[in-house]
Amino acid sequence: MPPNRPIRLAIAGGHRGASFATALDLLREDITLTAICDTSEQVRAAWLKSNPELKAYDSFDRLTDDPAVDAVFVATPMTLHARQSVQALNSGKHVLSEVIAAVTLEECWELVETVERTGYTYMMAENYCYRRETMFVRNMAEKNAFGEITFAEGGYIHDCRDLNIHIDGTRTWRGNLRAGKGPSSRGNGYPTHSLGPVAQWLGINRTDRLLRTTTFVTQSAARSDWARSVLPRDHRDAAPQAWANSADSASTLIQTERGRVISLRFDSASPRPHNMVHYGIQGTAGAFLSRRHDDEEPLVWLDGISPGVSPANFNHSGMARPEGHETQGHARWQLLWDLSDRYEHPLWKEHGEDALRSGHGGGDYLVLRDFARAVSTGEKPPIDVYDAVTWSCITPLSIQSVQQNGQPMDVPRFNQNI
Ligand SMILES: NC(=O)c1ccc[n+]([C@@H]2O[C@H](COP(=O)([O-])OP(=O)(O)OC[C@H]3O[C@@H](n4cnc5c(N)ncnc54)[C@H](O)[C@@H]3O)[C@@H](O)[C@H]2O)c1
Repeated sequence: MPPNRPIRLAIAGGHRGASFATALDLLREDITLTAICDTSEQVRAAWLKSNPELKAYDSFDRLTDDPAVDAVFVATPMTLHARQSVQALNSGKHVLSEVIAAVTLEECWELVETVERTGYTYMMAENYCYRRETMFVRNMAEKNAFGEITFAEGGYIHDCRDLNIHIDGTRTWRGNLRAGKGPSSRGNGYPTHSLGPVAQWLGINRTDRLLRTTTFVTQSAARSDWARSVLPRDHRDAAPQAWANSADSASTLIQTERGRVISLRFDSASPRPHNMVHYGIQGTAGAFLSRRHDDEEPLVWLDGISPGVSPANFNHSGMARPEGHETQGHARWQLLWDLSDRYEHPLWKEHGEDALRSGHGGGDYLVLRDFARAVSTGEKPPIDVYDAVTWSCITPLSIQSVQQNGQPMDVPRFNQNI
């Protein structure tokens, strides 16, 4: 990449790509959108209507042949991410990949091998890692505010049933993953929104490593209920067994090398209002609880900083009570935001306003910004290929674990230096 020139970016997969319009506008000094690639004529036409200067490709092969494209944002259906990323890297392009990075272990290894061999920048666009709350907590964890973190949890619980069937009654790619008789999707099919931030808090692939994982799933019930209520009676996906190849809810446990435990939940079928954040941390000196719904705020308790005295310091055995106990009372949660002066992440201090103008709680803007910086400086991206496959491989491992009645599966060591 010649210095002082914006990166010439192409977006493959114009639907999700469209939600980056504000972020692209804000980052126009770093990135020039030059091309769009989508197999749908309708999607290409919509882009060209608002951006007539763009090149529009109907095939990924033609896009990767274009020498005037420096980097590709792969935002196509999930099952294509690894294959298209490998193709783009082999064609001399840098890659920003939507989540999840790969759906099989073979794809994970191929991605690693291709990035190592070609040397181009590869980053996974895990935007949940960039939300204000998750970066705030990451800054706290890096400053050791929680002491030794022993347990962390994350969940992606989002009723996405309406994304399974097109308006004409045919299955979408999501529907194809979960209905019919294809490969099993009884596992954690979308782990990176929950695991990504947690892995960063725990220093996974830096000072700790995922060792093994097990998953249990519920029966499949809510998709059938929904399908019966919206589809004609004789539609194949309204049949009682149509969604039996998937599960409503998956619970995953992961053990780390340092002895921590991570708990993840994935549920894209059960009916309930959406809440984008389901996280928690327990450490030896503090704890964090994300909000349970939009009307709540995230909470934190830090020993010696938050109001009140730790329950462990109360006198159960005749030992002296700590000073201040009479006036302070029991330990109490406080609002995370009350600690902004001390722990707001520097990136949010500097770019919070711009971030909030773009999608997904600011994540879309900051992901794109960090990718552009990694490409132009040649530095390691903040979410590199090893993070991408370590977080994404939970999908195939969870399916294998479920098939073997919850048997723990070893997490591959994708980088021998970690
Ligand atoms: N990070 C996030 O917050 C977030 C949010 C939504 C979706 N996603 C991810 O983004 C990806 C896309 O999701 P979506 O909801 O936009 O899906 P979608 O089905 O709405 O859109 C996919 C687009 O890709 C196009 N496409 C299909 N095959 C193609 C090919 N071979 N080459 C080029 N274009 C092709 C389709 O025509 C369609 O326009 C998924 O992997 C999803 O997991 C991430």
